[in-house]
Amino acid sequence: MMSESDDRIVSIKLRDFQMLLGNYQYRDSRIDYAFKLLDDRLQKTRHWLKASREVASFTYDITEESLRAMVGLAASVCGVGIVEAEAYFSELLEDSDFLDKISKAKGECKYANELDETAKPGHRMFLYAIARIKKPKIVVEAGPFRGFGSVFLIEAIRRNDLDGFPGEIFTVDIMNAFDGDIVEACGYGAFRKVRVGDATEFIENFEEKIDIFLSETHYSGGYGKQLKAIEGKLQQGGVITMSALDDELYNFSKMFGRRYASFYTEAVNHIYQGQFCCVSY
Ligand SMILES: C[S@@+](CC[C@H](N)C(=O)[O-])C[C@H]1O[C@@H](n2cnc3c(N)ncnc32)[C@H](O)[C@@H]1O
Repeated sequence: MMSESDDRIVSIKLRDFQMLLGNYQYRDSRIDYAFKLLDDRLQKTRHWLKASREVASFTYDITEESLRAMVGLAASVCGVGIVEAEAYFSELLEDSDFLDKISKAKGECKYANELDETAKPGHRMFLYAIARIKKPKIVVEAGPFRGFGSVFLIEAIRRNDLDGFPGEIFTVDIMNAFDGDIVEACGYGAFRKVRVGDATEFIENFEEKIDIFLSETHYSGGYGKQLKAIEGKLQQGGVITMSALDDELYNFSKMFGRRYASFYTEAVNHIYQGQFCCVSY
């Protein structure tokens, strides 16, 4: 969290910027409009600087409209009605034991001072909902990093198992610097099979059919190779999803006669404006 002197520096910088806004001679409504948007961004920045201490893998609240877009897409992807999909989102949002578990676990993670105390599922709720609805036998997650997405998939798999639908999750990351530390701190380590290495190589050597493939390897130069490797390894009705807008997934879907859709989650009071996710199904 910010110290008093950090707080003073931020206030001075924001005041300077606001003076600049105030001094500007508005000439027409377009300039007025542009500066109002800038001012809105500034207020969100101020809120984020004070309320959060995260530096990466941001977590945030999302707008009600974003939540509904996500529910609608989960329903379409899984071929169920809105009422059924909504029930799984509510199940997660009302599960205070699970959300408290994540909050407490954050305190035990590496660099805990760079994590916020509250659990904010944001766009990662989508993973939980599709895994609850589809009851996958095999889930593969490429690029779990600290495991902020993994915990939602694991919780869905854990609940599916209690309902009589067992499933497994394999995670593969090229580096193990954090080794999914949030997963371990939640006590969920035994639920996942961890592999360290390149996602494409992992998929090429994987011998089972995959029901849900989540790829989050954003910074390794495109998803094309992974998609090429996964063709033929997907279970009938299998889903591929990623937290990005990705042309390669669009082209893959087009080439193999699959459906493709995307959704956007708008962050509330956050410097990060929101997250695009896309799905092939
Ligand atoms: C943006 S982070 C993932 C964020 C995470 N899924 C979450 O929910 O916070 C990207 C991860 O992909 C991993 N990665 C990058 N290239 C990879 C590759 N070719 N194979 C496997 N993992 C890779 C990185 O090591 C990193 O941990």
